[in-house]
Amino acid sequence: FISVRHAMPMLSIRTETDTTASGAEHFDERIRKELALDVSDDLVEYVAELKFDGLAMSLTYEDHVLVQAATRGDGEWGEDVTQNIRTIGQIPLRLPADAPKLLEVRGEVYMARADFEALNERQRTRIAAGEKNEKTFVNPRNAAAGAVRQLDSTIAAQRPLSFFAYGLGDITPQNDGVGVFSSHFEFLLQLKKWGFPVANQTQCVKGAEGLVQFHQKIAQERDSLPFDIDGVVYKVNSLDAQQRLGFVTREPRWAVAHKYPAQEELTTVQAIEVQVGRTGKLTPVAKLAPVFVGGVTVTNAT
Ligand code: IVH
Repeated sequence: FISVRHAMPMLSIRTETDTTASGAEHFDERIRKELALDVSDDLVEYVAELKFDGLAMSLTYEDHVLVQAATRGDGEWGEDVTQNIRTIGQIPLRLPADAPKLLEVRGEVYMARADFEALNERQRTRIAAGEKNEKTFVNPRNAAAGAVRQLDSTIAAQRPLSFFAYGLGDITPQNDGVGVFSSHFEFLLQLKKWGFPVANQTQCVKGAEGLVQFHQKIAQERDSLPFDIDGVVYKVNSLDAQQRLGFVTREPRWAVAHKYPAQEELTTVQAIEVQVGRTGKLTPVAKLAPVFVGGVTVTNAT
């Protein structure tokens, strides 16, 4: 793949290590302090989103046409995977006439759980039929990453990928979106109108209490979602406030990822088999009694 430089760096989000409700409260406290708000000021408005467990992607539209899809890479340089991303039906190839002349949409490419199970089923059939170089995938994220980085686009097209939009990169006339949109939620609603998939769970909430309620609600829904998440993300809604908060190194001060405690399940080890890799390295693989963790059935582990 060809290396491409992102017009605006693709940042990462700070992760709140406290997985309990106080993780959300600390974030709100910090934001209020940094915005110099006191108790008599209004509650801060946030957009609460899912933290999708896939691959970050930057989609560039010039004159309303998708011209480039690039992976995050090191945040400054990514890989041009346009050919493979074009095969994702949910990603618009053209935007309506009211879209800006230049627009960079950021989001996550992922594989839905049902598509992952079906893909692995097909892979198992291929392996059983003696087809060489075929393998099953460990989880939806790995399957999605493999499909995106597949050099043969015809194979990539057979791997069912999906997409959720959640962020803004470059935009004309102003590259930070301030002046085009006043809030992140307004931007997401506009993305929906332009044909991008935005997760239904995305919600505008107020104050620490709103964040905590969202964190708890998603914890309940997590296992029944049709795709994997590894937490939720809170973002200050006002773009003006986002600009005032700014960044620390490669992370914005206005966003945080709030995870859930690790999911653990009990199972039994049925056998341990040792595989010999191409380099002669020995890898023990534990064959586990099937167990359902985070939406996928785990049957073995290295
Ligand atoms: S926003 C400026 N929103 O998390 C903030 N990222 O560390 C830029 N991710 O690799 C990212 N869901 O792929 C954002 N709703 C969401 C997200 C999300 C998943 C991933 C993203 C990136 C990592 C950020």
